[in-house]
Amino acid sequence: MGTRFLPASKAVPKEMLPVIDKPAIQYVVEEAAASGILDVLMITGRNKRPLEDHFDRNPELEEVLQRKGDRARLAGVEAASVLADIHYVRQREALGLGHAVLCAASHVGDEPFAVLLGDDLIDPRDPLLTHMARIQHKYGGSVVALMEVPPDRTHLYGCADVRPTAAGDALRITGLVEKPAPSEAPSSYAVIGRYVLSPEIFGLLRSTEPGRGGEIQLTDALDEQASHSSGPVHGVVFTGRRYDTGDRLSYLKATVRLACERDDLGPEFRAWLGELVQPAPVGT
Ligand code: G1P
Repeated sequence: MGTRFLPASKAVPKEMLPVIDKPAIQYVVEEAAASGILDVLMITGRNKRPLEDHFDRNPELEEVLQRKGDRARLAGVEAASVLADIHYVRQREALGLGHAVLCAASHVGDEPFAVLLGDDLIDPRDPLLTHMARIQHKYGGSVVALMEVPPDRTHLYGCADVRPTAAGDALRITGLVEKPAPSEAPSSYAVIGRYVLSPEIFGLLRSTEPGRGGEIQLTDALDEQASHSSGPVHGVVFTGRRYDTGDRLSYLKATVRLACERDDLGPEFRAWLGELVQPAPVGT
């Protein structure tokens, strides 16, 4: 429901809030497309119609830009509608991430698939999904992305119990706990919003009871898969650039970091930012 961004997210889905000049969700679809995933299913809900409009054509706007000869903006507008083959399914009730994933079952069918959560943006220079897909291909089962977090942050994530693999290219996950208190966290490895899952997860999700927060948790189904014949579950530790847009402070940091790195805005913005944060000289 985007409560952390109210009132901005009252009438605009939080996924549509701009990170510089593109809605956050577009970065996620671009990441999927860059890793070769061209069939995208969005699990949406009430109030999410603007997402469909954003990834659709807008002939009237395109015609106006065409007439003006504004090629750059025209390309920007068209880009979102040609990124991938995008489908939508509505999750009728917000029953949890596991339930949202289950809504994709008939679309996915019987092959491995990736899950990308819209709050996390992964820098395209640090490709994560292609690596995860390779690990899934090698070991079978499911693969999650992990990141080390300090003990006072474990309650915000799913946390994994891990042991090393012989090849050292991934961690074998032996258990997962959703949002544990520091004293209950099995390790400092937190699940970030990227998964490559085997279709067996659907059967496990169907028998997953509501867990943390009364919601059907993907973490719980993965915990089951980790000790099940449909496993294994592996973790890939991500040390690249990740931008969290899930709360206001992280969202601001993501926007500033990405703006600093943009070729068009970066040089001027960095200079201005430097001046802004510089302590005023003594005596002024
Ligand atoms: C979800 C998952 C959690 C994961 C997190 C990553 O939680 O349930 O296991 O660590 O995404 O962002 P949410 O942030 O949606 O509460």
